Amino acid sequence: MPHRALACVLALVLVGAAGCFYPGAEVPYVWTSHEVVAEMLRLAVVGPGDVVYDLGSGDGRVVIAAARDFGARGVGVEIDPKLVALSVEAALREGVGDRVTFREGDLFKTDLSDATVVTLYLSTSINLRLRPKLVRELQPGARVVSHAFAMGDWNPSQTTSVQTRDGRVDVYLWVIPPKS
Ligand SMILES: C[S@@+](CC[C@H](N)C(=O)[O-])C[C@H]1O[C@@H](n2cnc3c(N)ncnc32)[C@H](O)[C@@H]1O
Repeated sequence: MPHRALACVLALVLVGAAGCFYPGAEVPYVWTSHEVVAEMLRLAVVGPGDVVYDLGSGDGRVVIAAARDFGARGVGVEIDPKLVALSVEAALREGVGDRVTFREGDLFKTDLSDATVVTLYLSTSINLRLRPKLVRELQPGARVVSHAFAMGDWNPSQTTSVQTRDGRVDVYLWVIPPKS
């Protein structure tokens, strides 16, 4: 990803973490830019009936935008407690503290059964490991949106790209199929 290293250093300065990888984290904290967040939520057609889970929720921006700008409820799951604390503060500041929850924990151990939309900014290999869990726990019709990383041979229903100041980034959408 262009400028990922720079973003990592900035993240260190902002959250004061000892390293980009929090112990147990599978990927470092790098935020999704606000225009890409908006495109992810638009692509998933998020609305007031949705429960949006962001797995590895960083500073909470995806879940907060889902509640503030699209009327959804949201849950962020994040392994780094400092980022969870920042997310809770930001949600209160943005006036959506009653519609979002941030949980400190491992995304692989989180029950996803009430999510109608799952958002990801992780890696292709983590997406591939998550795929069976997504298909098992989400209801048919639930949407999965990923910033930058695809899902192997599971072809997305839609793909779009967003021009950011760091270059073009891809956003992928999958829809959970009917149970067989
Ligand atoms: C690339 S950042 C994305 C942050 C946010 N979703 C966004 O798009 O702005 C990935 C986040 O996943 C978190 N993370 C990594 N492994 C995790 C795990 N096993 N469980 C929960 N969070 C994890 C990291 O701490 C980091 O904040």
